Amino acid sequence: STPSSTNITWHAGHVSREERAQLLKQKGLTIWFTGLSASGKSTVASALEQHLLHRGINAYRLDGDNIRFGLNKNLGFSPEDRNENIRRIAEVSKLFADSATVAITSFISPYRIDRDSARNLHQEAGIPFVEVFADVPVSVAEQRDPKGLYKKARAGEIKEFTGISAPYEAPEHPEIHIRTDLTPIAKAVQQITTYLEDNKLI
Ligand code: PPS
Repeated sequence: STPSSTNITWHAGHVSREERAQLLKQKGLTIWFTGLSASGKSTVASALEQHLLHRGINAYRLDGDNIRFGLNKNLGFSPEDRNENIRRIAEVSKLFADSATVAITSFISPYRIDRDSARNLHQEAGIPFVEVFADVPVSVAEQRDPKGLYKKARAGEIKEFTGISAPYEAPEHPEIHIRTDLTPIAKAVQQITTYLEDNKLI
């Protein structure tokens, strides 16, 4: 897309992505989790990150703790802010993946159009993008309610809460679909790593 500023020039470095991958013996990609609050996406993402690191594969998780408290601390939960949240995360994950890291993002990312933009951004750059749907029925997420947010949303104390008073658009063709309430964490990690191995991504 076109930058808002003028008089800026794209500057290519000395090391191509292919050479970087060869030198570091590792390819970059983005693994994009999506799912309701309390769907278990961060739990599986953390376990996956740990598993990859123990195999000597550099992986780095982007989630609310390092994004909504930092880079995106000026954003809330209106549709516009969620759109901007996801746009920035897509750009950052692309940078991590370009650096030959396995970028693992863990955000609700409720809008299909925003996830598709993230996918296109990667595709245009030739960087693999793997969408993982952490799928649980709202009723299960609401029963878990680890932070008491569903309760507050039902009481009207939180507006525009995903799954209650704001939409969640489930992926139609995710690369990986996990019913997180029916799948043990280790099995979910295995499902993802098998996909990555089968597709020669790790
Ligand atoms: S989004 O939709 O992708 O921009 O959301 P995300 O950056 O993943 O942030 C979701 C976490 O913020 C808390 N929270 C809310 N979620 C949904 N809707 C509303 N209105 C809201 N307000 C606060 C919530 O704890 C989410 O945490 P997770 O880890 O997903 O449970």
